[in-house]
Formats: sequence, C-alpha cells, structure tokens
Amino acid sequence: MGKIPQDIVDRVRDAADILDVVSQYVDLKQRGANYFGLCPFHGEKTPSFSVAPAKQIYHCFGCSSGGNVFSFLMEYQKITFPEAIKILADRYSIPIQFEEGNSGSELYSSLYELHTIAVKLFQDNLFSQRGKSALTYLTDRGLTEDILKQFKVGFAMDSWDQLVKQCTGKGFTKSHINQSGLFTQSEKGTFDRFRSRIMFPIHHPSGKPIAFGGRIFKVDDPAKYLNSPETPLYKKSDVFYGLQASRDAIRKTGYAVLVEGYMDFLQLYQAGIHQVVAVSGTAFTPRHALALSRITQKVVLFFDGDKAGGKAAIRAGWVLLKAGMEPTIVCPPTDQDPDDWVRDKGRNDVLSAIESPTSILDFHLEFHRGPSLEGADRRQYILDLMREIRNIQDGIVRNDLVRILSEKLIVDEHDLIRVMKSQRINPVQNPDQTEQRDETPKFTSTVDRAQIELLQLLALEKDTTRKYVRENVSLALFTTPLLKKVAEFLLDKKLSVESSVIIEYFQDKHERDSVAQILFADPKNIPPEQIVSDCKKILKSMPLKEKIHLLRIQIREKESHGENPQEELDEVILLRQELNEI
Ligand code: UTP
Ligand code: MN
Repeated sequence: MGKIPQDIVDRVRDAADILDVVSQYVDLKQRGANYFGLCPFHGEKTPSFSVAPAKQIYHCFGCSSGGNVFSFLMEYQKITFPEAIKILADRYSIPIQFEEGNSGSELYSSLYELHTIAVKLFQDNLFSQRGKSALTYLTDRGLTEDILKQFKVGFAMDSWDQLVKQCTGKGFTKSHINQSGLFTQSEKGTFDRFRSRIMFPIHHPSGKPIAFGGRIFKVDDPAKYLNSPETPLYKKSDVFYGLQASRDAIRKTGYAVLVEGYMDFLQLYQAGIHQVVAVSGTAFTPRHALALSRITQKVVLFFDGDKAGGKAAIRAGWVLLKAGMEPTIVCPPTDQDPDDWVRDKGRNDVLSAIESPTSILDFHLEFHRGPSLEGADRRQYILDLMREIRNIQDGIVRNDLVRILSEKLIVDEHDLIRVMKSQRINPVQNPDQTEQRDETPKFTSTVDRAQIELLQLLALEKDTTRKYVRENVSLALFTTPLLKKVAEFLLDKKLSVESSVIIEYFQDKHERDSVAQILFADPKNIPPEQIVSDCKKILKSMPLKEKIHLLRIQIREKESHGENPQEELDEVILLRQELNEI
C-alpha cells in the first residue's frame, strides 16, 4: 500500500467515531463523560479501559495502552497505519486510492492477503466438480451448504501447486510466502502444504482468515487433521475456531460452550446453539482462558464422551478455575462427541443438557470414581486434587472446593487443608506478566507534573482558556523531552489541538501511550489562571533550587579543604533573590 495523502487521513479521522469503532470489539458502558470496558490489550476482570468520545481517544488505566481510533485498530488487528485508514475509510464510505506496489513490505497485510486468496480458492474448489466428493462427505455428515458457506469451508485439491500458482505474480515476497504457513519448501521448490483435505479456515475475531485446519476424508491417515503451523498471524495458544461468529451470542447468553473440534462447532452452530467456540489443534491454555474472559466468565466444557475427552475437560476446567473463571462440564453419552449427539438427539435435548451442566468437582469425582477409591489410590487421588486446588488464587473458590470435597469424600476439612499446604506450590503462570512489561514513561516528579498540568490546559477544547495559557506560557518551561515535544504541537498556533490529532505525531508505542494518558485526563477543577501561575512558579523555581543545591555542595567541599567559598556564597545570595522574585 502506498502513502495516503494527509487530507484523506484527516477526513477519515473526522468521520470516524472512536466509540463506534471500539464498541465493535469491546463492551463499553457509560460512566460520566467517558465509557469503560474490559481492556482488549491485557487481561482483567474489572474494566479499566476507557474511551473519551469528546477527545476521540482511549486510555487503559491498567496497562497504559492509549491512542486514537487509528492506533486502536492498528493494535487490535495488528495492522499498519495505512491499513487502519483503509478499513475506516470503507466503514465511513470515504473513497481513497492507494498507489500500487510496495505491498511486499507489509508482512501482516501480505499474510492476510495470502490467506484470503487461499480461502477463496478452496471454497471455489469445494463447490465445483473438483470438490464433489468432499462436498458429499460434508453433506453426508449433516452439514448444509449454507453453514459451509458461512464458515467458508473449502477443499484443497490433490495438487502440489494449485495454491502456489494462484499466488504467483501477485507481488508476494519469498519471505512472506515462507512465513504464511500455507506452503512447504524443499530443494525442489515451494509446494502447497494442504492437499486432498477439507479446509476449515480459522479467523481472527475481527473476521480475517489467519490459518487453516485441514481434514483428510477419503483415506485413513494417522494425521486426521493437519493444522497451519504457528505464524506471525496465528498463535495457537489463544486462537479459537469460530469466535468471529459466536462472540455476540456468547455475550448475550452469558456463557460460552467450548468444544474440541471444528465439526462439533459447526454442528452445534447449525443447530442454532450459537454460543459456541472450539480450540484449534491444541489443548486449552491459560491464554485461551484470558481471551475468553474478555467476553464471558462462564464456560461450559463440552468435550468428547470418551476417556480422552473427560481428561481434557478436567484439564481445561482447572485452567479456567485458576484463571478465576467459572467452568462447568457437559458430557455426551459414552463414545459420542457433541457432533454425533446433536445430530442424534437434536437441538433441544443438547441445549437442555448444556443448561444444566455438572460442576468440575462432581465430574472429577465421578470420572475417577473418587468416593469409592481405597487405600493408596484414595491417598493419591486426594493429593492430586489438592495440588490443583492449591493453585487456585481465589480464596473463596478454593475454600468452597475444599468444603465440598470434605463432604463428598468424608475427610476432615482441616486434614485436606493440611494436605494442601504440604504440597509444593506450582508456580502459576500468569500469561499476562510474561509479555507485558510496562515501558511507558512514568512522570512522577513535581516538574513533570507541572508541565503535564499545563499541557492539559493547552489541550482543552475551550478556546479562551487555551488562548490565555498560550499567551502566558513559553516553550522554554518544558524541559522533559517528550513533554516538550507535546508542548511544541500544542503551542503551535497553526496546528490543530485535537487530542486525537496530536497523538498521531507519536509513532513509538510507548510515547503514544503516555501522550494518550496525559491528554486523557482532564485538568484540575481550579481556575486556569491559578494553575498557570502555580505551575510557572514550580517550573521556574526548580532549576534555581537545583543550582543552589549544587552550590551548597561545592561550598561544603571548599570549606572542608580550608578554602574560601566566597564566590559560591555570593551566587547563592543572587539566586535566592531571584527565587523570591518569582
Ligand atoms: P477429534 O479426533 O475428536 O476429531 O479431534 P473430530 O473433531 O471429532 O473430527 P471429526 O468429527 O472426526 O471430523 C478434535 C480436534 O482436535 C484437533 C482438531 O482441531 C479436531 O477438530 N485434531 C485432531 C488435530 O489437530 N489433529 C488430529 O490429527 C486430530
Ligand atoms: Mn467428531
């Protein structure tokens, strides 16, 4: 994508409404002049992500992320600035043209584009003569053409280069092709990774295709499903299959049904149970829990009705409990999976099972026949359970589990607690802490705070206040580099002072986050004249005080060497006078 002219950028920014855009992804509730919701950039349980419609900016009080409508889209969808403009221009019907070429320089947009081409090709295959047997296989398994089209299910032909050919000559670089996960390389060249498979595209919650799961269907293959490898777009540990379509239904019903397979998902969705998601090609991780917790706290685990399914459900249950969420379990009849069950019994039976699920603990006790275990088995069983329970951070949940267990297993509660305390603590991995080191500059000194108060006045919408501050404050007062940069924009009469515009001058994420934080806060409810005079006093006197402090050290030094500090003493007197005059 080429460069976009500034006047188009301005038009798109004027047309876009940050509230409208952010609410597509974050459930926002009004509180005063601003709106609050759960931050999409870090995991949290109470909303600290805030949007100020009047300023058209956002700021998270938890992780310090901040910016305007463009930076929100860039960070949320992992896209470039021109791509964010393009999306918003489309949304608000502003025509823009890009110069051709140069598309290879943008990794993410290339990878999205490659996947979009693949999705289209595989879909065309499925609904043509070439895909007849694949389509028959799917319809025989009870899926309608409507649902296949809605989820863009497709078919990769038995060919080494159908997709290769489709992508050739479109300006993709070798490196982007390699990083897409859609191809394999050998010394003989580049080949299609997926062949003779039914293709389930996996989408980012924003709706873009980022990966595939491919199912073999004619022959027996030990790898029934072949999934995309991890790529810059596709991080398995927090991606769900189908979430782009089920997010709203999950919000509405207040819970998510988590299944193991693509087919389970499609079958339930087709049956009208829309509040469903599937993990794709991996076990359920703490990062999955974190991603789901932004939409709902309640998760009904609906795994296969065999030993492996039961074990996986229990494992996912512990992950959810440790993430502070509320998991329950529904189990299909022996050796059926949700797919079989809903086709067998229909929507209503399955839905009523989903609506009266079993608690994790009850399921655990039954699955392992806990109450009837004896001797060493019983001891080991209790130890294993307590090891999991001790890693649950919420004390109330932990105590409830212990109490229930003591009743069900007829053990003294205190004994259980003793067992729990004797277990080695497994370090609980908080998926947040590993990635989110906060490098946003912190402004804590008096001088920084005074400069910030002036900046906030300068950024006010009220013209008279701004004029007054501009006339009484000079750039020289701003000594902290980043704050000086913000002041330059705000003091420049030719430039617009809208917060959402100023933010765009800061391309470094950490700089942008702090600028958003500064602009987000409103100035104190004190007359601006008072603020200006107080801040000027601080900003002018601080350097003098510092000088005096340094001179004092020099004076003491000289005295200790028996020298005469007369010069320094005179200077201190002058500086003191200057200080008094401020
Ligand atoms: P299952 O073996 O339960 O398959 O794997 P399934 O979903 O019932 O598939 P169908 O009904 O036979 O078509 C559950 C999920 O585990 C992953 C896939 O995401 C699959 O949907 N899986 C399974 C793989 O990634 N690779 C495999 O070889 C098998
Ligand atoms: Mn199945």
